[in-house]
Amino acid sequence: MSDNNIHPIFDRILSRQEKQGFLNQNSKVVWLTGLSGSGKSTIAQGLEKSLFNNGYFPQILDGDNIRTGICNNLGFTIEDRTENIRRIAEVSKLFCDAGVICLNSFVSPTIKIRKLAKDIIGDENFIEVFVNTPLEICEQRDVKGLYKKARKGEIKNFTGIDSPFENPVNPDFELKTENQSIETSVELLYNYLIPKLRLQK
Ligand code: ADX
Repeated sequence: MSDNNIHPIFDRILSRQEKQGFLNQNSKVVWLTGLSGSGKSTIAQGLEKSLFNNGYFPQILDGDNIRTGICNNLGFTIEDRTENIRRIAEVSKLFCDAGVICLNSFVSPTIKIRKLAKDIIGDENFIEVFVNTPLEICEQRDVKGLYKKARKGEIKNFTGIDSPFENPVNPDFELKTENQSIETSVELLYNYLIPKLRLQK
């Protein structure tokens, strides 16, 4: 091994810029907000594949890997949702500092909650994407059967039923999924993101 690659540990820590250079990308947090069943996670999964297949290094954060782990003590009151989003934002910031592109799918139902995330992550790193699917469509899809339960009163504080969802006022990007295939949504979002993720040399 060449001595050129060995730095004393007290030299300095590696910068985000160096890590972005290594990964050949600008790191950002792509924040998908929308109702339960709006398609956020499915779109994030498609986007992750497209980015990875084109040489980018993304990481998905969603209920599956967050609410089962770091946030497994939280429910769905506004206080718990706020704490959920605060922790997610802090984790995303670490990923972003490591040069990784974070793809986050969270209901994040209020303007205040999303502002909290943006303030933690930093305006310049935060890309807000509104997955705009009408409640009726989400309820028709009812992929997880949760709307039915919420209507029967078996689940309390369900977003769109007895807990509010505030539409983003000025999102960076909006996807209307009602009459659009998943593939088209992924492609539109991918094309929007690439100029922001591509590292300028
Ligand atoms: S957030 O409001 O704190 O951002 P998050 O995105 O983590 O919510 O979790 C939402 C997911 O949890 C929904 O897609 C749904 O599958 C499930 N869920 C369970 N209970 C509720 C509820 N009361 N309101 C909304 N989503 C719920």
